[in-house]
Amino acid sequence: MIKVKKRKILLLPGDGIGPEVIAEVKKIINWFNDKKSLDFEIDQELVGGCSYDKHGTPITDEVFYKALESEVIMLGAVGGPTWDNLEFSKKPERALLKLRKELKLFANLRPAICFKQLVDASTLKPEIVSGLDIMIVRELTGGIYFGEPRGIKPIENGERKGINTHTYTTSEITRVARIAFDLARKRSNKVTSCEKSNVMEAGQLWKEEVQELHEKEYKDVELSHMLADNCAMQLLRNPKQFDVIVTDNLFGDMLSDQASMLTGSLGLLPSASLGAKNKDGEMRAMYEPIHGSAPDIAGKGIANPIASILSFAMALRYSLDLDKEADILEKAVQDVLNDGLRTKDIMSEGMKDTSTSAMGDAIISKLQ
Ligand code: IPM
Ligand code: MG
Repeated sequence: MIKVKKRKILLLPGDGIGPEVIAEVKKIINWFNDKKSLDFEIDQELVGGCSYDKHGTPITDEVFYKALESEVIMLGAVGGPTWDNLEFSKKPERALLKLRKELKLFANLRPAICFKQLVDASTLKPEIVSGLDIMIVRELTGGIYFGEPRGIKPIENGERKGINTHTYTTSEITRVARIAFDLARKRSNKVTSCEKSNVMEAGQLWKEEVQELHEKEYKDVELSHMLADNCAMQLLRNPKQFDVIVTDNLFGDMLSDQASMLTGSLGLLPSASLGAKNKDGEMRAMYEPIHGSAPDIAGKGIANPIASILSFAMALRYSLDLDKEADILEKAVQDVLNDGLRTKDIMSEGMKDTSTSAMGDAIISKLQ
């Protein structure tokens, strides 16, 4: 059993714009080490397509073991068209899925917050999205992403059959539902649980288990159940009705993309993937921006580092017990946006076009 080393941070920049945005996170970590006398130990490794290019695998055993002993993993992004035609097991995304699964990071927290400075960037009307603050809790290690049997098999008539299996057990459902209820208690105290209980047995089980847990332990939290397709519609119609949404791996993948785009600023949204706490209170966790590797703008120095920097703020809050430092960092980001600094993805008239590294520097200068 590999022990988690306290305050050990593993940087996995990955592909595309990953290295550019994680470079800014590194500056921030170093600032906290220098100025706040924090003792974060940083290490950096390859993962995804860049690891495949060098080692023939999206994640080496060595990197995987480093990940196992790190308290915090900061991931950039993986993938890109260069690696699209690789066989399934070698694809960059497999590294991400392996980390999630083997590190048992079952709870994926994806906030969708509409920054007041960017209300006009949304494709929805300002009154629909202003003040929006939703937390999607996506189950991350089960469901159809990992269920067995899976594969592509030849069948009698010369055709092929693609198979994936959607399964959930009681404990897989209740542990992630518990995270959602606990989060709701610190927010607006409302949970919406989404599934397709009208067509899937696993969805019916999901609904029943969430309901039972609610009755046993979380009666004080307002719970409603919603079919996932209806949830997709409601997110567009009236997104502010939601506080915390808890849902399975696949629906969470889709609903979180949809929710994030309501905010108009994909480049600003962080995420956290959390494991269970062991008896010593230690927890494995991986933090990453919601946006992908954006190969079209990679290497140009124009990517938005804010989502990654806010992911580090989540790490300070959820893994490192440094709420005050998280507040300071989030405030610095707000200050920079208030000053009108914008990377290209969130640029609007009258604002200052800012490069990736200038954005990182500006945030650091606000921290001072
Ligand atoms: C995400 C991504 C991943 C997923 C991919 C890159 C495997 O879309 O984190 O939402 O499907 O989970
Ligand atoms: Mg996704």
